[in-house]
Amino acid sequence: MTTHDPLYLQIAESIADSIRAGALVRGERLHSVRDVARTRGVSMATVVQAYRSLEDARLIEARPRSGYFVAARPAALPEPETSRPPAQSQRVDVGALAATVMRMAREPGVVSFGAACPESALFDVERVRRAMNRAVTRHRTTLCQYPHGPGDEQLRRAIARHAVTLGCAVDPSDVLITSSCLEAISLCLRAVCEPGDVVALESPCYFGFLEILENLHLRALEIPTHPRTGISLDALQLAFDTQPVKAVLTVPTLSNPVGACMPLADRQRLARMVAERGVPLIEDVIYNGLAEQEERRRAVRSYDSSGLVMMCGSFSKTIAPGLRLGWLDAGRWRDKLERLKAATAGGQATFMERAMADLLTQTGNEASLRRLRSTIAARMDEARGLIAQHFPAGTRVTDPPGGFILWLELPKGLDSVLLYQACLAEGICIAPGTMFSATDRFRHCVRLGLGGLWDDAHRQGLRRVGQLACAMLAAKKGKALPLVA
Ligand SMILES: Cc1ncc(COP(=O)(O)O)c(C=O)c1O
Repeated sequence: MTTHDPLYLQIAESIADSIRAGALVRGERLHSVRDVARTRGVSMATVVQAYRSLEDARLIEARPRSGYFVAARPAALPEPETSRPPAQSQRVDVGALAATVMRMAREPGVVSFGAACPESALFDVERVRRAMNRAVTRHRTTLCQYPHGPGDEQLRRAIARHAVTLGCAVDPSDVLITSSCLEAISLCLRAVCEPGDVVALESPCYFGFLEILENLHLRALEIPTHPRTGISLDALQLAFDTQPVKAVLTVPTLSNPVGACMPLADRQRLARMVAERGVPLIEDVIYNGLAEQEERRRAVRSYDSSGLVMMCGSFSKTIAPGLRLGWLDAGRWRDKLERLKAATAGGQATFMERAMADLLTQTGNEASLRRLRSTIAARMDEARGLIAQHFPAGTRVTDPPGGFILWLELPKGLDSVLLYQACLAEGICIAPGTMFSATDRFRHCVRLGLGGLWDDAHRQGLRRVGQLACAMLAAKKGKALPLVA
């Protein structure tokens, strides 16, 4: 947080820091809006806005006619430390582990925390079905026509309008429709990199990125990343000064797996840094719609006037992963990207694109997103509470301001691949930390995806993961704890 941030956000962050540090404890009454306005010399409207953003972040709650109170969140757990990856780029060899974990995460009967996608019941399936039916009926002739060019005009316009929620003014003619966010990212990397080139990215990072780098024969330069504020811009600057960085690939809002959200001032600085160096930036905005606070949804692209920022997104986490539709805002590389897309896979089914345009522009869209955000927020609080109770002492866990992914740093010495195997033997799937880096640095870490089913079997499953981790650590220290459930 810096003085470049809006005043209300500075006030909100200073109160959030006091809550996180334990100076303000759960249930404690906050000063009245009038008092804060007087002592800080700001308007009451600014304080109300600060309190609203703390409410969105579930740090405080308003009680009718009583004022604002520190919310009853699960026991505070320490957050993971800033990562310290090696300063050299790495050849990527993700091996078969990620593919196996993703396969097991989807096996029927498995209690799964492996995947990072909300279950179908969290989406508005009925709204999607109606939009699909309407699209097939109204645009039936498109079923027997080849789709053309950069994608359906109506959807590209709807995405340009959607980009306003990311703070961006996007020209619909710069939008290209893809089959997914990952396809969009892969196309962008192909547009600006050659085999052997170095790509800077978060550490840890989404394993899907590593798979793309491996397939395109690109090298990963992992940059130190803070679990709350994301990629370190000082470290990135140093990388620009010392390494041949050809592109930056980043998820500034709710990065996967740590759920970091880059402060607005950093987003602005990042846009400036890439413009000064002429380095293309590929920004993945797939999770922006899940950020609890509106200002965190603002994209780095909104600060860019150089055309070096390519923005990639999809609706897999917010509307309907089954429609397989993504998009990119192509910046300087529009024509090249359109040719690459045409040479790779042609276009998507037009009636699906029309259905998505319809879903995006309907008034119900914001209401379903709000429902999705609040359902997963309550679930995340419950899961963090269970982790506090059942995981080994010394466990660190993220507290992301939105989304459904938790990243756990377990005590050093615990091997998360062995933990994954022990869990799988009991029908529980977790994602071991080794999947999220080209190095072996996160062997003691685990990613938990909490967007899937959430019932008593899952609560029990999470307790069991903690018990197994405790037993494995005790066995390592020669103090065997029983492994039985
Ligand atoms: C950061 C990030 N980007 C992209 C994707 C994949 O998105 P899509 O389904 O649109 O390819 C994921 C899925 O987990 C993700 O976490």
